[in-house]
Amino acid sequence: MSNGLFRRKNIANILAEGGDDAHGSAGGLKRVLTVRDLTFFGIAAILGAGSFSSLGGAVFSGGPGVVILFLITAVACAFTAFCYSEFASRIPVAGSAYTYAYASFGELFAWIIGWALIMEYSIGNIYVAFSWSDYFTSFLSRCGVDMPHWLSTSYKEAQHAVQNGALEGDQFQAWHTAPIVAGLRIIVDLPALVINVLITYLVYKGVKESRNFSNIMVVLKMAVVALVIIVGGYLVFHNGLTFNWSPANDAGVKSFMPNGFSGVMAAVAGVFFAYIGFDAVSVLAEESKNPQRDLPRGMIYSLVICTVVYILLTLVLTGSVNYRNFEGVGDPLAFIFEKQNLNVPWMQLLVAVCAVIAMTSVLLVFQMGQPRIWMSMSRDGLLPKVFQKIHPKYQTPSFSTIVTGIVVGVPILFTDKTFVLDFTSIATLFAFVLVCGGVLLIPRKEKQPGKFNIPYINGKFIFPLIVVGCILVLSFATPKYFGNKVDFSEENAIEKLATMLPAAKMDTIAVVNNISNNLSTENANNAAFVGLLDSMNVKTIAAQKLAVVNKFIAAANTEQSRTLKISTIIFWLLMIGLAIVTFLKNYSLIPLMGVSTCLYLLTGMTKANWLWFGGWLAIGLVFYFLYGYKKSKLAQQN
Ligand code: ALA
Repeated sequence: MSNGLFRRKNIANILAEGGDDAHGSAGGLKRVLTVRDLTFFGIAAILGAGSFSSLGGAVFSGGPGVVILFLITAVACAFTAFCYSEFASRIPVAGSAYTYAYASFGELFAWIIGWALIMEYSIGNIYVAFSWSDYFTSFLSRCGVDMPHWLSTSYKEAQHAVQNGALEGDQFQAWHTAPIVAGLRIIVDLPALVINVLITYLVYKGVKESRNFSNIMVVLKMAVVALVIIVGGYLVFHNGLTFNWSPANDAGVKSFMPNGFSGVMAAVAGVFFAYIGFDAVSVLAEESKNPQRDLPRGMIYSLVICTVVYILLTLVLTGSVNYRNFEGVGDPLAFIFEKQNLNVPWMQLLVAVCAVIAMTSVLLVFQMGQPRIWMSMSRDGLLPKVFQKIHPKYQTPSFSTIVTGIVVGVPILFTDKTFVLDFTSIATLFAFVLVCGGVLLIPRKEKQPGKFNIPYINGKFIFPLIVVGCILVLSFATPKYFGNKVDFSEENAIEKLATMLPAAKMDTIAVVNNISNNLSTENANNAAFVGLLDSMNVKTIAAQKLAVVNKFIAAANTEQSRTLKISTIIFWLLMIGLAIVTFLKNYSLIPLMGVSTCLYLLTGMTKANWLWFGGWLAIGLVFYFLYGYKKSKLAQQN
């Protein structure tokens, strides 16, 4: 059994299948793409909802200090890009992490990666579709067309907002104005659904993501992002707003990281999401003129360009507006130019239009990538044959494309942005760890001129030294760092308190609702009473109190702190283990750093993320054992 689980595909065989391996291409694609095209493709896939949308939540959580997380994440992605390139140079058939894992770890891990990539490609696209909708509706409303809130909000988002006692805002409106059919409130993010149907249709019909079209899109989004940076940056200095870069936290302490480093780390899902996409460059291996040389360059160049863009954008955003104002803001780049902020109306419109275009290109890249991965898995026998069905007329993977559309479309009805963002990021990071780990396992090869080779730096002494050095620095610089990680007494105490808070919160919500109802009904005639309440601003005060209770509940929700502690302990144990194995096996330093940095980013994930992700993997394993394990091509050959 264990041999079966770890049966590997031979690299020579994968190469021989090459042309008809379907990661992107059936048979003899023209090798036309240059390093510039690959870089542009990378930017097309990377720059999208992350910068235009999830950046808002990230700066709300970490403040201006989020730039540090952008740097850490860029380093993790750069190491990973080297590992992708190493695989792409050895298996230049249109590589994806799935194929790489098949050659290095064997079938079970290949399946797990293929399963996790559904999260990156399909679930990631749900987030992009939601963000697309945010900007689309904001564009419409700036043109004077207001969509009903219940047709432009996700059900879950509205439900959460109301459960948390929201008394105003789009979600509140959506909940209270929604038509009710058979006891169910009809709340749906229609633009997100429609764009998904349109993209699926285009991919089904075989839209040629022509080089020129894609390059124009990239130039356009780079231009608008540059404009945001220039206009916003100028106004930050001109209006004397640089004090926003060291805002005060709840305790009144001014800092670049107002919520501390843990606040910065809590933004990891949003920040990491902004980088996802550079790996999609590897699917173009068969179409690039010189994949061994150009793929790594394309990935690294696009990563460097996007990192610079993200850092500048973060600084402009957090300089223009106090970081706290980004709570729940889905279109932050347009938001900073609103009346109450920098007040530049033409920028709001321009940003909204360009964001819609930018995100459409990201949607296309991922919606085209997913069916091709499924085709590969189907050709290996891990998925039913129907997944490799090619449309006779359009020459596209028709069945896989439609399934992708359904996998993206149906959850749009039941999920919200936060959920899919976390889910995508944890699964993609996990896939990255396996890709970097895979490079450690494949045999070293002779350097060949003109081919990309991950530079081999023997990690034997360096890696253990880095691990020990970090542990020492942390112990001396923050003496409580490790002690604190194994001390859960504070969490236990607060947890007790937390169980009492929801009841208090429900009471407060009841009081607030009571006041609102009374204001608008029985006491409506009692002008003096209404006047008195109004002058005391009772509703506002009650809402503020509720906000405090909510904040307290969030703070008292110790799960995150507990999970952070546990995952940090596991992280350091893994590092020590890896250092020992490296000492014995002389592992190569770059993939080691890739594994370590991606594992470190995983420590920022919440308990809920881990549970959902674990559940998802478990479902995947059930599928594998019921189908792929028996039907796999390798199993049939043996
Ligand atoms: N990085 C891609 C985006 O931000 C997924 O939309």
